[in-house]
Amino acid sequence: MHHFTYKDNQLYCENVPIVEIAEAVGTPFYLYSFATLKRHYLAFTAAFEGVNKLVCYSAKANTNLAVLKLFATLGCGLDIVSGGELYRGIKAGFLPRKIVYSGVGKSDHEIDYALETGILMFNVESFDELEHINLRALRLKTQAPVAIRVNPDVDPKTHPYISTGLQKNKFGIDMQAAIEGYKMASRLDNIKVVGIDCHIGSQITEAEPFDNALKSLKALMNELKRLGITIRYLDMGGGLGITYGSETPPSLGEYAKAILADLDDPDLQLILEPGRVLVGNAGILVSRVLYRKLGVAKDFVIVDAGMNDLLRPTLYNAYHAIEPVEKSTENLIVADVVGPICESADFLAIERNMANVKRGDLLAVMSTGAYGYVMSSNYCSRPRVAEVMVRDDQFEVVKKRENYKDLVTGETLPAFLNDGR
Ligand code: LLP
Repeated sequence: MHHFTYKDNQLYCENVPIVEIAEAVGTPFYLYSFATLKRHYLAFTAAFEGVNKLVCYSAKANTNLAVLKLFATLGCGLDIVSGGELYRGIKAGFLPRKIVYSGVGKSDHEIDYALETGILMFNVESFDELEHINLRALRLKTQAPVAIRVNPDVDPKTHPYISTGLQKNKFGIDMQAAIEGYKMASRLDNIKVVGIDCHIGSQITEAEPFDNALKSLKALMNELKRLGITIRYLDMGGGLGITYGSETPPSLGEYAKAILADLDDPDLQLILEPGRVLVGNAGILVSRVLYRKLGVAKDFVIVDAGMNDLLRPTLYNAYHAIEPVEKSTENLIVADVVGPICESADFLAIERNMANVKRGDLLAVMSTGAYGYVMSSNYCSRPRVAEVMVRDDQFEVVKKRENYKDLVTGETLPAFLNDGR
């Protein structure tokens, strides 16, 4: 459920006509709905009502400070994968004791920063990393709270690029080795074992993979108990899919049921790391039609947003619905929606049934609140677009559009280019 709806053929975000925002801030821009974000978070936590839990929003999906602040204010925790996300999280007001840190490649600087900040736990992904965190904690005369991220070898049945819980993926430590990992961790003086973690993939549209992962983790926890190793936090990661087009992911209730089915220890705190399901359908990308072009083989709608602004269609062949901001005709066409970048992979949609738009019309690329702006780049020296948030009948720019000067900020001309040779 989201708050992007038509009133008299005009697309609104909550109570603001999107046309008005486009006039004020120009195009393209990402647009987020406060009411949708809040509603998604509250619905997610309600599905786990009565459960000893901590919901840690997965920052990587959308790190805009306004989005982070909104979740922090609601009492949410944060799942991070870099020092930069930790910086943003603290700036937005997340409590360090509600922050978990995953990722296979944590650098010294990032580990120290997290130790000094006092986060809840590191989700450790290799033996090397475990030993290294121990050393960094020793240097800082502290103890690092850790969970081992286990790889339960479960097929999440999603796009291979975002599948993370299979043995061939780089993530986590396999189940058998994890036992050795825990034994080693409990021998290290500057490591404190507090949890167990897994994250099997993203945009998962069935409940079964979650259920299978949980069963594996439960078995491992029982084994650890036998070895006298106590686990306080069970982190089940994120991954619940959303509807972009025809997908039918489990409802929040079904998802919660799959995860809670085997949980019977009230002392164990469940941690969840939802990203996409909280923000995906709470955002759109608004773009203007620059040109129409009837090719020999295709009809092209050329818009002012490209693959540098929204990479998902190019990278994963992902589907995003594309709606006219002002419905003016019932006439449909079949066209490729393409951007201004010099690559044939620069498309937002291929052979799409869509409104018969003309130069100047506005299009809304739906469900782009997750992994949209955060994956954008300056490719082809295109300034990053603006981000806007709506609350009821108000809107505000929450990240201003970059300008040409921003593009060269930090670049310097070395002296050896000035000697005329
Ligand atoms: N926890 C960990 C450790 C993760 O790596 C991720 C996502 C999440 C939680 C959140 O997963 P979610 O609930 O959003 O599925 N760029 C891709 C998605 C990459 C996901 C990476 N990890 C896309 O655009 O589909």
